[in-house]
Formats: sequence, C-alpha cells, structure tokens
Amino acid sequence: MAIETKIGTDINRCIQLLTKGKLVAIPTETVYGLAANAFDAAAVAKIFEAKQRPKFDPLIVHIANIQQVNALALSFPERAKKLAKKFWPGSLTLILPKSDKIPDIVSAGLDTVGIRMPNHRLSLELLQRLDFPLAAPSANPFGYISPTTAQHVFNQLEGKVDYILDGGHCEVGVESTIISFAERLPTVLRMGGISVEEIETEIGEVLVKTKSESNPAAPGMLLSHYAPKTRFILGNIEEEIFKQKPENYAVLGFRSTYGHEGKTLSSSGSLAEAAYNLFSHLRALDQAGYEVIFAEEVPEMGLGRAINDRLRRAANR
Ligand code: TXA
Ligand code: MG
Repeated sequence: MAIETKIGTDINRCIQLLTKGKLVAIPTETVYGLAANAFDAAAVAKIFEAKQRPKFDPLIVHIANIQQVNALALSFPERAKKLAKKFWPGSLTLILPKSDKIPDIVSAGLDTVGIRMPNHRLSLELLQRLDFPLAAPSANPFGYISPTTAQHVFNQLEGKVDYILDGGHCEVGVESTIISFAERLPTVLRMGGISVEEIETEIGEVLVKTKSESNPAAPGMLLSHYAPKTRFILGNIEEEIFKQKPENYAVLGFRSTYGHEGKTLSSSGSLAEAAYNLFSHLRALDQAGYEVIFAEEVPEMGLGRAINDRLRRAANR
C-alpha cells in the first residue's frame, strides 16, 4: 500500500507516527532528516529502504538533552563533553563508543555511535516529548543533494515517508561537522556547520581525515556524493566555459555569475549565506535542464571548507 505523505507542523501527529514505528522527516538547522525511533530496529530499517542507502552506512542519533548521551554511549570523554556544552544544540556530531541500547542497524555494526542535538525549535520540542531518540540521516535519496526545505523532501520521498514536519528553510544549510572520539586523537571526519577553527578554539588541535576514498564506515566521506544529475564542473568559471564552449549552461558563482545565467551563493561574500543557499541553488539549477553547470570554490576558511567539500564531491562523478 502506498503511503500518503503529508506536510505540516503537527507535532502530536509526529509523536503518534514515530511511536508506531513510522518515518517522519524532521527539520534541523543543517538539513532535513529522515527520522525513526532509534531503539526500534524495524523502524530504522525503513529509513535504509526509503533512501536506498547501503546498510554499511551508519546513522546519526538525535537527542534533546545532554544527559541522554550517558545512556547511548559507553563513555563521554572530557573534550567531547566540552564541545557538546559549547555547541549543542547545533551542527556538531560526536562519535563515541556505543552502548547496547543502540541497535546494530543504527551503527551499521560499528562499535561507535554518532550523536547530535539539532538546533531547531520544532524538532527539539518533538525530541523532548518522545521517550526515545531519533535516528536520522539526511532526507535525500542516497548520493543526491541534501534537502533544505520540506518541499525538497516531498519531491524526492513522496510515498516513502508518512509525515514531513515543516520547519522552513534550514538556517545553516550544510550538514553537521562530525568529530570522532573513538580514535587516539579527536578526529574530524566530515567538515560541516561548525568550523574546525571553532572546535580547536575549544579543545586544541584535532586531526582532520575527511578525504578517504573508500572508508566503508562513513560513506558520507565518499568522494562522489551530494551529486547533481547534470554535468557539474568546478574550477575557474570563465576559463572552463571558454574551454568547453557549451550551448546551454548555468553558473553557480560565489559572489556573482559573471554575467552568465545562473545563481549567486552570496553577493556580499558571506560564507554563512553561501552555505544557506548552496543545496537549494544546486538543486534548482540541476532541475532546470541545463547541459552543464559551472561552479567555483569559495574561500577555504571557516564554513567555506564545508562548502568546498560539498562542491568537490558534487563535481566528482
Ligand atoms: O547535519 C546532519 O548531520 C544531518 C542532520 C539530519 O542531522 N544528518 C546527516 O546524516 O547528514 P547522514 O546520514 O546523511 O550523514 C551522516 C554521516 C555519514 O557519512 C555516516 O557514515 C557518518 O555520518 N556516521 C554516522 N555514524 C558514524 C559512526 N559511528 N562512525 C563514523 N561515521 C559515522
Ligand atoms: Mg547525507
């Protein structure tokens, strides 16, 4: 039987559905998540099916208060706790040794679990009222651009999710930063909404290992990801257009489109605004029927490192 997907702001409805083991898409400040009861392995299995996500790719567990970490993780190292206190609710996922409460399907058989407290009013209220945490990956088909509005989720997962909690456009626009405390030194596995600089200000130097080509433990780190269907070229926009001489193309520029058709990430040069616009602009251009999209990197600092990471993976087909 096909599922009828509804969009709205009815938290009571979300609680009913999630308690029955159904899927609900939830807004966060980074991107929308496709959520299920993290303690219910059968419910979590539906996420993998809806997303066509490989079973070796673990999910992040979302919580509403920091005390929950004690039940979900075997240990909570001082530096991890310091980051949680500073940045939660917010765009930071901590990888910690997992407790038995986390079903293997959530952690994809790893002995660690990713935990984060999202910063969105509706989802925090939902999480506070549930008596279980929510396992949720980004609410997009595996490998495609992450959703930053309820409509993006609807367009791609209609019939596969029961309810989409509409929290407007995601404020940050790129996924959370992932930092692992399961290694000898704290290690950033994915650049995201909290910059490495901000993390290092709190806890000192960390390792950054985000380039792995074949790390089955975290395919979010795969070189090809966040990929539009349209050919996507990253580099010097004018030079690439000159070299390729395409007929029907668009530009995704940082501060302007250099007079070409396309979209600008932030005319004022704000990296926060660029992150906010990144996935919606990329998606809009992808759906407009161009033969090719030309894009350029943004300054490699702060949030810019997360933006460039997504652009490079999008260009890597
Ligand atoms: O901002 C976000 O983090 C969003 C919102 C919905 O919270 N979620 C998100 O989930 O981006 P997802 O599943 O699209 O990306 C999570 C990444 C994946 O690359 C996964 O491999 C990695 O986190 N991950 C999850 N648990 C892990 C673990 N125990 N060890 C290493 N990597 C892990
Ligand atoms: Mg994802």
